[in-house]
Amino acid sequence: MTESGTASTTPRRVVLIGFMGAGKSTVGRLVARGTGWRHVDFDEELQRRTGRTVPAIFAEGGEAAFRRMERALAAEWLAESGVVLSPGGGWVVQPGSADQLGRDPLVVWLRVSPEEAVRRVLAEGGDRPLLAGTDPVARARELLRERAPIYEQVSHLVIDVNRRSPDHVAREILRRVRPRPVDGPVPERDG
Ligand code: S3P
Repeated sequence: MTESGTASTTPRRVVLIGFMGAGKSTVGRLVARGTGWRHVDFDEELQRRTGRTVPAIFAEGGEAAFRRMERALAAEWLAESGVVLSPGGGWVVQPGSADQLGRDPLVVWLRVSPEEAVRRVLAEGGDRPLLAGTDPVARARELLRERAPIYEQVSHLVIDVNRRSPDHVAREILRRVRPRPVDGPVPERDG
């Protein structure tokens, strides 16, 4: 985390990072609803634009092709304000991605354990090429060991999501991007 624990100015965009299954898409939608900002889920957006699923992109062009598309999408959306971005869990750990973040977004790491991540991914029936194989938990542990230091380094706020509902997580983020007015409306008096 940066030393202040918050983004440098009142953030006009939020970037949710963290491992697969952390809830970046669901929480992103809720934060967007709470702010009135646009939500962009990178995997969904890539699938919409290419007409192919993420596993198909991996199968046809390899991970490198997927990362190139992801990077182009990040460049496009990180230039916008009033957005909540949910990139895939591998984007921010690619070389150069942290530089794409710039200075002003609030970067939130939704921290999930490898066991919980795999439980959620399997429960939702999601297809994650990087967790394919006989021991997805071992693979998740290995990937998280590599990625956690980077998630930690680039984030302004860390939320442990293992036992928190998406609503709870979203509310915690909204407190940072939608400061409460100091003077609320004066309540009307009776009589
Ligand atoms: C990936 C995460 C996935 C998706 C792709 C690769 C990763 O997105 O982008 O399967 O490298 O962690 P989610 O984090 O939304 O599951």
